[in-house]
Amino acid sequence: YPSNLQMKESSGLTQAMCRAKGGAPGFKVAILGAAGGIGQPLAMLMKMNPLVSVLHLYDVVNAPGVTADISHMDTRAVVRGFLGQPQLESALACMDLVIIPAGVPRKPGMTRDDLFNINAGIVWTLCEGIAKCCPNAIVNLISNPVNSTVPIAAEVFKKAGTYDPKRLLGVTMLDVVRANTFVAEVLGLDPREVDVPVVGGHAGVTILPLLSQVKPPCSFTPQETEYLTNRIQNGGTEVVEAKAGTGSATLSMAYAAVKFADACLRGLRGDAGVVECAFVASQVTELPFFASKVRLGRIGVEKVFQLGPLNEYERIGLEKAKKELAGSIQKGVSFIKK
Ligand code: NAD
Ligand code: LMR
Repeated sequence: YPSNLQMKESSGLTQAMCRAKGGAPGFKVAILGAAGGIGQPLAMLMKMNPLVSVLHLYDVVNAPGVTADISHMDTRAVVRGFLGQPQLESALACMDLVIIPAGVPRKPGMTRDDLFNINAGIVWTLCEGIAKCCPNAIVNLISNPVNSTVPIAAEVFKKAGTYDPKRLLGVTMLDVVRANTFVAEVLGLDPREVDVPVVGGHAGVTILPLLSQVKPPCSFTPQETEYLTNRIQNGGTEVVEAKAGTGSATLSMAYAAVKFADACLRGLRGDAGVVECAFVASQVTELPFFASKVRLGRIGVEKVFQLGPLNEYERIGLEKAKKELAGSIQKGVSFIKK
């Protein structure tokens, strides 16, 4: 039968939905916001991931078309589409990993925080569905402003009694991807050889690249440090302006989201030494959430790493980042509490 059969079912979960094709171990992944600018290339790339056995594509518009299209790819994952709120629960049932790129993107002149009013409500609704239907799933939250939507998700899960900080991760991978690219350009290296930790959060000065910890070890002039830090912090705005009102980063974000989701799945599989940066519940600073390197495992976040030695430039950047982050986190928490 067509792989998007579930779209025609009003509710309920069949046994077939929970079984992986071919019997080999694989993970069940849902994308919420799958018909969007990020959602579509993300769905395509996840369909290409051999660790995925079932791929559920949910959106409030256009999910049937995207699902029909993606489902013709001759890769392993069985694809099913789900359209609109009445099908959210079916989309989420039995999922191991839920990736959320649902929500509106920026236009030139806007900050990520300007998206709060619309996206906070979207994330709230979707997280209520997760709490009900797949409370043990790992959640990768992409919707902006990440610095506030992750605290919102945590509060929703707390209210539902399902919160596990190890399973909620704000996706800051695009900052790392950009940092690797821009640093490699300056050093004249292949970006695949470069590893730049980016900590803090995902907006403006909260994006803090630790250029003193770049691998392979290297050093930068003060001018290079200033240039790289500004470019990494404003990478999102660079794309928003270039797209001139038609949206924000989608293709590089889909790439980054898949890189991050793949790391989460390898962790779930039990691979050793899977380490990436993410915005998570944290005791690394006095703030309740902070992005830093984390080790991913069978339970989600197995370990949150300390920041390591910072230079003077980074210490000043950290203070600025924490000040802005504190407000954004509080805004998210208050949104649910009030
Ligand atoms: P888009 O408008 O192209 O797509 C968003 C999709 O979400 C649309 O298909 C829309 O129908 C869907 N949607 C809206 N409400 C929904 C709901 N209640 N349930 C399910 N789906 C819903 O936007 P985009 O370019 O894909 O960006 C999506 C979000 O990702 C934005 O908030 C953007 O700021 C953010 N983003 C984050 C990062 C990051 O690094 N974390 C990077 C880029 C973009
Ligand atoms: C990005 O960093 O590209 C995203 O957060 C989207 C944006 O609004 O900049």
